[in-house]
Amino acid sequence: MINQQTEQNYQGILNRYGQLLQLPAHSQRVTLLEGNTPLIPLPRFVDELGGGFEFLIKYEGLNPTGSFKDRGMTAAISETLGAGSKAVICASTGNTAASAAAYAARAGLKAYVLIPQGKVATGKLAGAVAYGARVIQIEGSFDDALTLVVRLSQNHPIALVNSINPYRLEGQKTAAFEICDALKKAPDWLCLPVGNAGNITSYWMGFKQYNDLFGSGLPKILGVQAAGAAPLVAGHPIDFPETIATAIRIGKPARGEQALQAAEESHGKIIAVSDQEILSAQKRLAQEGIWVEPASAAGLAGFIRQVNAGHIDPKGKRIVTICTGHGLKDPDTISKNMPQPDLIPSDLHILEKTILGE
Ligand code: F0G
Repeated sequence: MINQQTEQNYQGILNRYGQLLQLPAHSQRVTLLEGNTPLIPLPRFVDELGGGFEFLIKYEGLNPTGSFKDRGMTAAISETLGAGSKAVICASTGNTAASAAAYAARAGLKAYVLIPQGKVATGKLAGAVAYGARVIQIEGSFDDALTLVVRLSQNHPIALVNSINPYRLEGQKTAAFEICDALKKAPDWLCLPVGNAGNITSYWMGFKQYNDLFGSGLPKILGVQAAGAAPLVAGHPIDFPETIATAIRIGKPARGEQALQAAEESHGKIIAVSDQEILSAQKRLAQEGIWVEPASAAGLAGFIRQVNAGHIDPKGKRIVTICTGHGLKDPDTISKNMPQPDLIPSDLHILEKTILGE
């Protein structure tokens, strides 16, 4: 297996794992030192469920643009820059847009991003704008936007950097490698949210590759969709997906078949959870100091649901749950329901009374 590099010499996922990724020789490395994200234990959560198992959060919100997309984007942008592209395009529920914009800026390429009108969280949109992308809203869903950018990229010299692009998956495999390297083997379960289904596909590819090379074992995969946007659970596309977890508000996942295959081959499952379960998992994570955007809490929500239903017995197991994006990406879900903070005069006596009571 690959040894952990020290923080001082860490140079991003392509430097660390490039020899295990199917990237063309013409690739020209573009990096923001993505990856190398921590595995954070949730000890109080484990106690609440009766103890006797290990539960770790892989906090992908700590990537340079605040989501796991940076792993795939360093690979896709490196390839397309080396191939001579001048511009890239993607459809996005927000995180891909911010990541594409950042890596395109880094590479000196123009980025175009298509987003569904009014359904992209503030932090993501602001990111895409800050990095200098040309942001276009469409009167339609993510699925409509994806159809448009696929067609456009076929007719014009603008590279598609959605996860249909195979190099995105190559980069995203590295999260599975990191988990195996840190734990010395694959966990028993891997729980993660599923939207367009690139990430679950990448993890399964990564775990299989590492197992073939190093005998690191294979996890069961629990993919989790939001109930209002769960085509892989329903068994058919959803025309009007709806969920508070806007990142995974997707009705026709591009990598749906591969996601179903990953769940089946791993002896895992793809399930759906309600928005309420997602919000309560988001709160549970925050109670242990980890603030994630709603979609990122879906993996935990799914795990809790499976344990409560008796479908997963965690005893003696090691579970890794992927938190895909940072809470700062979507501050509105919190601030909309937030009570106004108390306002007091700048006075010690009043402060004491406010905090300590009468
Ligand atoms: N979590 C977050 C925070 C996401 O942004 C996404 C996807 C997912 C999970 C699901 O990953 O699509 O590979 O199954 N966001 C895409 C975007 C669709 O445009 O940012 P997936």
